[in-house]
Formats: sequence, C-alpha cells, structure tokens
Amino acid sequence: MTTKWEFWNDEDAPRGALYEKDLASSVEFRARYAAEKTIIKREEMPVEFGPQGVIKHLVHEDMGTQEYCLDIYEQYLPGGGKSGKHRHLSEEVLYVIEGTGYDLHWDLEFDCADEYSWDMAEEPKRFEWEPGDFVYIPPYCGHQHFNSDAERPVRFVSMTSRIVKKMGFDWMEQLEDAPEYGGPEKTGDR
Ligand SMILES: [Fe+2]
Repeated sequence: MTTKWEFWNDEDAPRGALYEKDLASSVEFRARYAAEKTIIKREEMPVEFGPQGVIKHLVHEDMGTQEYCLDIYEQYLPGGGKSGKHRHLSEEVLYVIEGTGYDLHWDLEFDCADEYSWDMAEEPKRFEWEPGDFVYIPPYCGHQHFNSDAERPVRFVSMTSRIVKKMGFDWMEQLEDAPEYGGPEKTGDR
C-alpha cells in the first residue's frame, strides 16, 4: 500500500536527512561527553582579569567538563575594591567565603505593553554580607559587589545557569567595568 498526500508520496520521498543527522550527532556527542572531565584540578582553572574583575573559572563551557547546566566562578575583590556592574538573564547565587562587603541590586522594571522594555530601578537595594552568607540575584537585575574592608580581600563563589542562554536568552550586559579594568565607563559596545 502506498501513501499519497500533496506534500508526500512514498515513491520519491526524500530520506530523513535531518533526523539522521540528529542521530549521528547524538552518537558523536555521547562519545565526546564520555571523554570530558569530571574532576578539575585547581591548576586547570583559568584565572583572568576582565570587565567584572578578577575571576577564577571553576566550571565554564569552554573547560571541557561533563557539567552542562551550571557556570561557576570564584571572584576576588581587593581591599576596599569593587567588581564591575552587569546584568544577565540567568539568576545568580553567591556564596561568600572570605571577607565582608555588600551588594547593590538594581531591580528589573519589565514592561511589554507595546514592546518589551527592560529598564532598571534608579535606586539600588543594598545587601550586606559576610563569610557563610548566600546571596540571590534575580534575573536581569543589575548588580555590583563591594568590599567594605580596606585591608582584607573578599572571595566569593558565583553560580549561574547556562541553560537560560541555550534556550535563546543569551542576554548579558556590562554596565560598568571593574575600576582596575577601565573604571565607570564601560569599554566597547557590550
Ligand atoms: Fe552576575
């Protein structure tokens, strides 16, 4: 028995190229995944100085690990220093390991009456933290971290979800660079 629709007939139907490609891609992915790291030694973690400040990446997409959901880094603030100011669509959590300081959070003011608008509150909220504290940063909330001790450094761990980007929401804006990187003026178009 043959099947005929106006968009399809069995005799000259093309083979399922896209579906076959997906199957092949899964075989390739699983082989690659099996070879990716489950242990990352401290010397393999890249430390870099960027617009947000000094960061040591514990888990990053480019580090070849089997973690596909979370991005995790440790951030350092010098005595009396501050991070850059940014916002991103993934929510973020911080765990403070060392030092004392505070966060400023500029809440998202979202509206979609005629078109989407992603404004920020003019006045930030301030949250003090110390070692052992957990800080939650909501999606697309502007945020900046401050060390309130002029003598001692701050160290905290930051975690965000990589999944949000993969769902088509790769929204990330640098609003101000860390002082040592360029100061209150952000550099470039980002
Ligand atoms: Fe952040």
